[in-house]
Order: sequence, then C-alpha cells, then structure tokens
Amino acid sequence: MIPLPLVNHRIGRAAVTCEYRCGDACFHDVPNTSGNPYFGDLLSRRTALKAGAVVAATAAVALPATATATAAAQPEAQGHRPPRGLDFTPVEVNTKDEVVIPEGYEQGIVIRWGDPLFPGVPEFDFDHQTAAKQEKQFGFNCDFAAILPLDPLELTGIMVTNHEYTSEPHMFRGYDPNNPTEEQVKIAWAAHGLSVFMIKRSFFSGHYRPGFSRYNRRITLHTPFEVRGPAAGSDLLKTSADPTGRRVLGTINNCSGGVTPWGTILSGEENFNQYFANAAGRNDPRLSRYGVTGTATTRKWERFDKRWDLAQEPNEVNRFGWVIELDPHDPDSTPVKHTALGRFKHETANVRIAEDGRVVAYSGDDERFEYIYKFISNGKVKHGNSKAARRHNMTLLDDGTLYVARFTGDSPPAEIDGTGKLPADGRFDGTGEWIPLAAGDRSFVPGMTAEEVYVFTRIAADKVGATKMDRPEDIQCHPRTGTVYCALTNNVERGVTAGKEGPTEPNPRVNNRHGQVLELVERGSDALALRFDWDLFLVCGFPDDPNTYFGGYDKSQVSPISSPDNVAFDRHGNLWISTDADGKLDGLNDGLYAVPLEGPERGHLKLFLTVPRGAETCGPVIGERVVTVCVQHPGEVDGANADKPVSNWPDRGTARPRPSVVAVWRKGRRQLGEIG
Ligand code: FEO
Ligand code: CA
Ligand code: CA
Repeated sequence: MIPLPLVNHRIGRAAVTCEYRCGDACFHDVPNTSGNPYFGDLLSRRTALKAGAVVAATAAVALPATATATAAAQPEAQGHRPPRGLDFTPVEVNTKDEVVIPEGYEQGIVIRWGDPLFPGVPEFDFDHQTAAKQEKQFGFNCDFAAILPLDPLELTGIMVTNHEYTSEPHMFRGYDPNNPTEEQVKIAWAAHGLSVFMIKRSFFSGHYRPGFSRYNRRITLHTPFEVRGPAAGSDLLKTSADPTGRRVLGTINNCSGGVTPWGTILSGEENFNQYFANAAGRNDPRLSRYGVTGTATTRKWERFDKRWDLAQEPNEVNRFGWVIELDPHDPDSTPVKHTALGRFKHETANVRIAEDGRVVAYSGDDERFEYIYKFISNGKVKHGNSKAARRHNMTLLDDGTLYVARFTGDSPPAEIDGTGKLPADGRFDGTGEWIPLAAGDRSFVPGMTAEEVYVFTRIAADKVGATKMDRPEDIQCHPRTGTVYCALTNNVERGVTAGKEGPTEPNPRVNNRHGQVLELVERGSDALALRFDWDLFLVCGFPDDPNTYFGGYDKSQVSPISSPDNVAFDRHGNLWISTDADGKLDGLNDGLYAVPLEGPERGHLKLFLTVPRGAETCGPVIGERVVTVCVQHPGEVDGANADKPVSNWPDRGTARPRPSVVAVWRKGRRQLGEIG
C-alpha cells in the first residue's frame, strides 16, 4: 500500500483518471476557440446605453415561484423538521476507503467489475482475466445506472449501467502502456459499453443482488447499432466496413444517461475523441473542434483494429459522440444511435413529455466552454407498455428540431466580478432562448448543411452564438414541475486562460473549481417553449466561502460540495446530486447529496454518503426504499496502479479495487428518509 495524498489535490483529479477517462482534456487547449461572445454582456450593454440603467431589466425576469416563496419564508422557518424523505443525519466529509452512510442505514454490494452475468461464466479472477470472460461479465468503471422495476414493490427490476472507460494500469498487473497486448486491448473493448441484468431484493432489506434472466445482456464494442435520424446514411458516416453509414459496431465512453417515459435507456457517448489515432496528419479543424488531436492514442487500439486509425478510416470517429437508445425489455433489440440529437460529448440525455404528447430531450456537452442543447420531436408519444408502443416511441428522437441555449443575465456585467459574489439583485439569474440549429433536412445555420449541423454540432452552435458554459454535466427535468436542473461541474480555465471567456452571470466565477447547479424554467412551464428563465440554485464549494450560495439557505447548516455531476429526484421531489470533485474539496472523498427544492428548507444540502478513495459517485437511483450508486474508479489516485493499490474496496484484504454498484437502505423496512 502506498500512502494516500490527503490534502494536496488542489489541482484536481488523479493523472490516470485524466488520461484514461477524458484523454487529458484538461491539459489540452480548450477545443472551443470560437469568438462568439456572451450574449448577456451585449444585451446588458445595449440596455445600459439605451435606458441608462441596466438593472431595469430585472423587473421583467420571472423567478421560479419556489425560489421567490423561499426567500420570504426562510428567516423564521429554518431549523424546522426535515422535508419528507430527508430525515437523515448527514455524514461528515472524509477520506475513508469505504462507503460511508448515515446512522440507521445499511449497505451492500449489488455487483462488481467482473461479476458474471450469465450462467457458466467463471467467477472473476483478477490475474487471469480474458476478453471472452469479460464479454459476459459486468464491465469496468460503471457510471450511469437505471433500475426499471418489474413489480410494484420494486423487489425485482432490470438494472442497466454504462461502463464509461477502462483504466488499464488498474486492470492489469505490470501493464506496459507503450506495449499493450492484444488480449488486454480486447478485454478493454469488452469492458466498455453497457450491462443489462436482472436484480432482486429480499422483502426485508434493500440489498439488491444480480440474477440471471432473459434480460441479461452485454453491450460492447462488438454490438451492432442502427444509426437513425437525419444524418443516417450520410457520406460523413460511411466507412470501409459500413458503406451504408447506418450500422456501427459498439458504443464508447458512455457517461451518464436517462430513462425515457416509455421505459428505454438513453446513454451519452462522451469523450470519444481520445480513442482515435493520427488526427495530427489530417489537419482538419472539424477534428480539433472535438478534441481529436495527436498521433498515437493512450490505449493503442489502433494497432489492433484500423477503425481507430484516422489515417485509414477517416469517418469512423463521426460514428461516435451520439446519444444511444436501448430497449432493455427486449434483449434481442438493436440499439440505436440518434443523429437528430446532434454530435458532441454528450454527458446524457433526458426526456420530458409536452402537454400535446411531443417529447423534449435535453443534453449537455461536457467540456469547458461548451453548450446545452434541447430537441423537440415532431411525433407524439404513444402510451402503454407494449413492445409496439416502445418501437414507436423509439422513433421520436429521430425527427424534430435541435436547438442550443443562449443565456442572458439580468445584472450589470460589472456586478459579475468573477469571485462569485452575488450581484445587487441577490441572484445569478436571467432569461434565455433556444436557438434552432436544424430540423430534418433543413439547416438554420448559415454555411452548413443539415447533415453537417448534426455531425459537427459544436461548429453549428459556435456560429449561432450559443452560451459557453462551465462543463454541462447531467441535465434532468423535475418529474412534477418540469423545471430543468443542470450540473455545471467546474471550469478552472474561465477567466484564467488567455483568450478564454471570463465570468458571465450563469458562469460567474473565474477559476471555477467547484461548479454550480442551474435551474431552468421554460416559459409558462411549457416544455415546447423557446424562451426560458434561469437562476443558479447552488454555487458550490465550502459553505464558509462567502462566494458560495445554497439556494439562499443558512450556510452554517449545509454540507460542503464540489463538482456536481449527476442529478436525480426522489419521489418527494427532492434533488439528489452526486459529485466528481477528484480531490478539489481539499482531497476529501466524493459523495451523494440530497437537497429540498421547495419550501423553507430549499437549499438545505446534506451529504448522504461518501465513496472510497479515488472514486467518483455516479448514477444515483433514488428508490422508495433503496438508494443505489455506482462507485466508479475506486483507488485511482496519483501513483497508484494494480501493482501499488491504495484501495482494496470492496473485496478488502489485498484485493485490487473494483468499480461496483452499491445499495443503501434504511434499517427496519422503512422508507428512505422516513420521518419519525
Ligand atoms: Fe463522464 Fe461528464 O463525466
Ligand atoms: Ca441577477
Ligand atoms: Ca459524469
């Protein structure tokens, strides 16, 4: 065991995580070199010139009703009993090599990297792993997770997880990054993708365990996908292996995702750029705009399959960076890549149904200074659980209009000083609009065909003046109010790197280490609206930092938080947030937090659990009795690898760490956070 660095992580995540997850994105130039300015600055300056008083604009801004009510109710109401579902004592931040949960709760491992998903597959053996076994085992580095209940008591369900990336130095003893073996590479191909499997729990506890069932399935880099939507069949998607441009093998770097109202899974292909070699020789700005740069890749897959070599297969890279959809109820179904949602580093996609039955999908592009997108379908949802209904609904994301967000702040730019200090109106807030990019074969972007808009969506968004955000991560709609919540995880280059944008009202801090959580209310609460109001619900960090904000709540009572990543809701409408701070919180472990959104307790953020050393908290599923989280990359800290582990979680002893799913439940057959 090597000593764990505790408090020297001011610079951020472990180097191995940077390299293997994101292709060292933070060490490369930001791909967005567009000059589109922040619209809020322009508008405010224009307003100032015309009216002489920029603050006049604030009168027109409608705050979320919940926020307004809270501000009035708060002084006398704080300290009241916790809202429904949140009666737990928060855990303390820590550096333990374990999952730390509140008093009165219990936990159990649901599934670990390498656990068999099919009968006859041998138990995991770290030192004798093979690609053939990995094809039938739970993959590596689980991120997003979903549970689709199969009975009303949620005793059984189908669990689906993403496997975002492989960390070869942690998977193989004596790994030589310059000379990976063919078998190691093939294991990595099989360890990416998704896992689908049945889970069951006892009536008396919350401990889900995996079972073999007809639903069990692995999606890997060998699984055929159907490309659909307006860019399907485009010349930009054709390769020597697929002259149709309609059939892709596999999905990659699947980060977060969503469950559709019709029971399928959406999953975002995120940092796909890092898998493609030899961009340097191509001198193509469309590659560099996506961070596809350099010669050899970290994993050297290009040595074993030419599709990872841009010199031999220039279009293969265009076949990744999409939102995929999978029907877990039908193990024989072909998953889909939806080109109508655009191509970028999709963190996720989540769907809301409009009143007239059309569907709206939100998705963020997780990179510094990238954008938030919205898609509105032309077709309407078909209700019911039949296979035919799901087949129909799986076409909804193929036909519609793709938009990108432009935010406008309502405070004078001079009041957004980059520290995080609230402006005079007391809020980081404003209005915004959805700018159309393309609809079917029609492009709204000058100089680009619709096909180009879908395949090179970042470039299209640059041209229409979208707002550069601080790494848009998960984005989800509140199930009751429809309010959209987006985690903007951090951006340490804002206002720091020469030539890069400084603070704006939706991204108000320079060197933004801790991130913020955005609330977006479509005008009239209409999912189809093309204008919205927004505010920052949380400006994260240590509560004793004057430049943090917790929904207006008394900061002496909240938990510290850095780098919000995934968001989820419980059945009471509270927001749950998992973090990916990678040491930014003074080297403390990541965690899962819960916070009420309404009433006098709005903003009272509490830490529910923390994950082991080096790990990230991912994929929270908040059930009635059970919380599950994915513990991704445990033990990934600087200096550690399979020969020098700093974590033995979860198997203990001398075992190497294994990315796993954990279930947490309240003792005694009670509901989560039940009061009394
Ligand atoms: Fe894979 Fe955006 O985190
Ligand atoms: Ca404001
Ligand atoms: Ca994430």
